[in-house]
Amino acid sequence: MNDLFRNASASGTGKPHQGRTSISCLGKRGVVSFSDLGNGDFGAGKFGTWEAWTPAKINLFLEILGRRSDGYHELETVMAAVAIYDSLQFRVQTEPTIALHTTWTFGIRSKFQAVPHVVGDIPSPATNIVTRALTLFRERAEVRLGATVQLRKRIPSAAGLGGASSDAAAALAVANLAWNVNWAPERLESLASELGSDVPFFLSGAPAAVCRGRGEQISPLEWKWRPAVVLVRPPEGLSTPEVYRRLIPPLNPLDCQPLVQAIGRGNQRVWKNLLANRLQEPAGQLTCWLQRLKHEFSRRGVLAHQMSGSGTCYFGLCRNFREAQRIANCLHAANIGHVIVATTTRAYPTMRWTREGAEPWKSPKSASS
Ligand code: C5P
Repeated sequence: MNDLFRNASASGTGKPHQGRTSISCLGKRGVVSFSDLGNGDFGAGKFGTWEAWTPAKINLFLEILGRRSDGYHELETVMAAVAIYDSLQFRVQTEPTIALHTTWTFGIRSKFQAVPHVVGDIPSPATNIVTRALTLFRERAEVRLGATVQLRKRIPSAAGLGGASSDAAAALAVANLAWNVNWAPERLESLASELGSDVPFFLSGAPAAVCRGRGEQISPLEWKWRPAVVLVRPPEGLSTPEVYRRLIPPLNPLDCQPLVQAIGRGNQRVWKNLLANRLQEPAGQLTCWLQRLKHEFSRRGVLAHQMSGSGTCYFGLCRNFREAQRIANCLHAANIGHVIVATTTRAYPTMRWTREGAEPWKSPKSASS
């Protein structure tokens, strides 16, 4: 059990009440990370505004081990969290409803307003996974309160970056504290896996992990050396089920162990031959953008490159942030979609509680062109 859940339940009063003071932030640099929470009273069960920043992911390795009887695929994937953040503001309400408001925000909306397809669509509040996550959690935990949620999106959608799953994980984590439910992580993880195969990874807060089963069995990894990442979301997105429908599972699946060792050892030189994504081939049958992106990245001297998840986002690993920015400028000039530079992350999500009327919290940022 991690500290978030153990300590949050210890400090819970069972009833929400009005916070009088701004809760101090015990995490590094004034933010509260999952592992830091619970070292004091963080406003669990109080009114006020909760805010969570939750990252995107890339798949450094994705192999299919076979088809399952439930229609899903047995997989082995290595996911890494990257510092492109959606943010979620959560206000507890006495009315027993979930009101979700969504918007694209800086770096995306400002530059790509005229071509919203470059970053994808945000599902309507009624169908959004955040509403589904909170509704399901309210039912299962028999919560009588409701919430108003403002979701600010920066992670492009239909891209294989796990934005929706990340939002769902943040919603569960925040609601668990804000509604003072204080479920243990195992219980929350099981709910997370009902919502989507990638949601447990984001709930785990691991900077990187090997994920097995449907994707819900998480073995966290620690980076020895963290590469910078340049990502491109082309103007076309892909639907995950459609990509999986075209997949032919391999007879001899690849092994992720060499990559896992490289992550643990921090050797930059070995990266080139370690990335793999079994979904890239079927995704390439559905859009010609992947071929174009592969061509563009192979000209730029990145350490390694491939598609993330079921696409269409394509990424390259770089030696450092400055190199990633230089390559991003070239890719931006090639006019192949929305280009983002990010680092791989440490712990996440960061969360904060502010009393009514207090100054809003200044955010972490990712560069975006
Ligand atoms: O679990 P999630 O809703 O993210 O999955 C989306 C779709 O991806 C599923 O409907 C399924 O078609 C496919 N999928 C799969 N095997 C997995 C994960 C996802 O076939 N392990």
